Amino acid sequence: MTPVRRRNTLCIVITLALGGGVSAILPAQTPAPRRNIDSLLARMTLEEKFGQLNLPSVDNRPSAEQLELLRKGLVGGFLNLTGAAATRETQRVAVTESRLGIPLLLGYDVIHGYRTTFPIPLAEASTWDPAAVEATAHAAAREAAAAGVNWTFAPMVDVARDPRWGRISEGAGEDPYLGSVLAAARVHGFQGADLRAPDAVMATAKHFAAYGGAEGGRDYNTVDVSERTLREIYLPPFRAAVEAGAGSIMTSFNEIAGTPSHANRWLVTALLRGEWKFSGLVVSDWTGVEELRGHGVAGSRADAGKLALETGVDMDMVSRIYVDDLPALVRAGRIPVATVDAAVRRVLAAKAALGLFDDPYHGATVEREQAVLLAPEHRKLAREVAREAIVLLRNEAALLPLTSARHTVAVIGPLADDKSAALGSWPGHGDPRDAITPLEGIRARAGEGTKVVYAKGCGITDSAAAGIADAVALARGADIAVLVLGEAGDMSGEAASRSTLGLPGVQEQLLEAVQGTGTPVVLVVMSGRPLAVAWAAEHVPAIVQAWQLGVETGHALADVLFGDVSPSGKLPVTVPRSVGQVPIYYNHKNTGRPPSAEKYTSKYIDLPVSPLFPFGYGLSYTSFEYKDLKLSAPSITPNGKLRVSVTVTNTGAREGAEVAQLYLHDEVASVTRPVRALAGFQRVPLKAGESRTVDFEVGAKQLGLYDQNMKFTVEPGRVRVFVGGSSVGGLEAEFEVRR
Ligand code: GLC
Repeated sequence: MTPVRRRNTLCIVITLALGGGVSAILPAQTPAPRRNIDSLLARMTLEEKFGQLNLPSVDNRPSAEQLELLRKGLVGGFLNLTGAAATRETQRVAVTESRLGIPLLLGYDVIHGYRTTFPIPLAEASTWDPAAVEATAHAAAREAAAAGVNWTFAPMVDVARDPRWGRISEGAGEDPYLGSVLAAARVHGFQGADLRAPDAVMATAKHFAAYGGAEGGRDYNTVDVSERTLREIYLPPFRAAVEAGAGSIMTSFNEIAGTPSHANRWLVTALLRGEWKFSGLVVSDWTGVEELRGHGVAGSRADAGKLALETGVDMDMVSRIYVDDLPALVRAGRIPVATVDAAVRRVLAAKAALGLFDDPYHGATVEREQAVLLAPEHRKLAREVAREAIVLLRNEAALLPLTSARHTVAVIGPLADDKSAALGSWPGHGDPRDAITPLEGIRARAGEGTKVVYAKGCGITDSAAAGIADAVALARGADIAVLVLGEAGDMSGEAASRSTLGLPGVQEQLLEAVQGTGTPVVLVVMSGRPLAVAWAAEHVPAIVQAWQLGVETGHALADVLFGDVSPSGKLPVTVPRSVGQVPIYYNHKNTGRPPSAEKYTSKYIDLPVSPLFPFGYGLSYTSFEYKDLKLSAPSITPNGKLRVSVTVTNTGAREGAEVAQLYLHDEVASVTRPVRALAGFQRVPLKAGESRTVDFEVGAKQLGLYDQNMKFTVEPGRVRVFVGGSSVGGLEAEFEVRR
C-alpha cells in the first residue's frame, strides 16, 4: 500500500465552517469530519479554487496533460477513472505532488451495478421492493468503492411518461410516488450510514430537472411543463433523494420553459438550496455548461461559465470552462470571489464527508477489489431481484409455468442467446461474458426429460427473414415455443430515442409465423422500455415482460418460467397499444369530456384510449383477493392522518407475492387533479390460503396540491380511495377532508 505522505507537513485539521454543510450530507449520528475548510480556502490561489471545480473525464487513465493539471492543483476530481491500482496512484499524485495535497473526487456512472450487473433500474422498479433496490445499490457501491470510485452519478430519478425516450430504462418509470420511494432507497444503498465507510459512495440524484419531459420523447429536447407539473410530477423524486441525504445533484441538459437547467437560478438556488435546504454539491452534466451556448442563452464560453456558476452549478464536468475562462472574470470584477468560494466549500465538504482528507483511497485496495467484484453473494442478489422484476402480462389457460410434460421446448429469437442485450444500456464494468442468457438458463433448468432446441429466427433490427422458416419448423416439432424478442441493450439509454414502440426488425413477423404453427407460444419481451405488443396481447397465450435483467437474466427467467418462483412484478410504466397514444400515463386528468361512447369526448376514432397494460399491473401463478377495506375515520383535518387497511388473501394453490397499491382521487379541488394518484404500496408475500391485513397511512404529503397561487395546501373535500393490485379497479371507499 503506498503510504500517503503529505508534501506539506501541515496536518490539516479541518472543522467544517459550513454551517451544516457536511452534516447535511452525513446523518446526524455521524460526527462531522474535522477539517477547517476555511483555512484551506484561505491558502488557495484563485486558479486552485477553480481547479476544485474542474471535473475532467479520463479515457481509462489520466493523460500526461491531465496529470500536469493535477499537479498544478487544477483538478477537483476525475470521472471514468476506475480500478484500485489506477485510482490509488492518481490519488497519490494528488495528495503528494500538488501544492495543497487535496484528494480527488472520483466519479463513475454506477447505474445498475459496477461489475455485477443488476437488472436495469426500470426492471428494479417493477419489483416495487425498496429493500431490494437498496440492496443492489449497496452491492454496487461495495464493488465501485473497492475499485476506488467514491462518487456515483446515480440514482437517475427522472420521471418518464414517454417510452420513446430511451432513458426511461434508467429510472423508476412514470409515477412520482414510486419514484420517490425508490430514489431514497438507492441513495441509502449507495451512501449507507457513513460516507467514510469503504463500501459507500456519494450518490448523485439526476438529471435535475424534468429531463424525462422531452418533447417527442427525443433525448435532450425541449421541455415545456408548468410549475405545477414540475412540482407534482418531476420534482418529488429529487426531493426524496435530498431528504435521504444525497450528497450531490446533477443538472439536466434540457431547458424548462425557456430556461436551461444549467442556467436556472430559480431551480438550483431558490428551490433546491433555498426551499429544500440542500447544501451538497451540484455538478453539471457532461458539457452542460458549454451547451448554454447551444441553447442560445450564452454568447461565449466565459458567459456560459459565469451563468452556470452563478446559477449554483459547483463543478464543471468536461467543458473546462470554469478553470480556463473564469479566473479572468473574477479578476475583472464580473464574478464575486465569494461565489467561487461557496462552490469550492461545497466540493471540499463533499471530500471531507467522504473522509478523503484522512484516507484519500477511501479503503480501496487491489486485494479488496479482487475480493468483492462479482462476489457470489452479489450474483445471488442479482438473481433474486431479477426474479422479482419479471412481470407476467398474460397467461391464458395457465400455460405457465412450464411443466416437465413439455418434452421439447423450442427457444427462439434474436435475444434468446444474446449476452450483451441482457446487460442493458449502461452496465458500467459489467462483462457480457458474465451474463446467463435465457437459452442458457432454460437449458440449465429444464429437467432430464425435456429437450431444449434453439433457433435465432432473425436479427434484432435487420430485415433478413430467411431464418424464420427454420424457426417455424423447430416450433412445429416442439411442445412449446419460448420466443425471446425485443431490443438490443443500446436501443435504450442515452441518445437512444425510438419513433416507434413495436418489436424491431422482422421480429413481429417471426412471432406471428411461430404462433401460426399452433404450438403454444410464450413471448418473453426483453427491452429497456415498454413495447406496444398489441398483436401478441391478442394472440399469444403467455407474455412476460423481462426488461434487461443483468448477469442472472437466464437463471431468473427460468426460475419464473418453470415455476420455481411465482412472478410478482408490477408495471412501473404504462404499456401503450400504439406509439400514437404517447404520452399515456395512469395519473392523467379527467378533462371536461372524459372518453365515452359519446362522439364528442376525448378519444381516438381508430384506437381505444385505454392502455394495452396499465401501470401497476402484473399477474401471478396464484390469485389474490382484496376484502374488508376500512378507513380509520370518515373524515380528517387537512393535517390529519388516515389509516387505510385492507385484507389480502392468496386464494390460489401456491405461494405468491402481491403488491397491494393504494390510490387516491381528490374529486373536487381548486385545480384539476389526476383520476388516480399512487399514495402507498406494500409487497405482501402470502402462502396458499394465507390472508394478511395491510395498513397504509395517508396524510398531507399524499393529499396536498399546489393551488392556483402555487401554494402547497390540503383542501377540504371528498377523496376517493382505491386499493387493489393495479391502477385499474380495486376496492373503493371515500373520506372527507374537513377544516
Ligand atoms: C452523460 C449523462 C449522465 C452521466 C454523465 C457522465 O451525458 O447524461 O447521466 O452521468 O454524462 O457520464
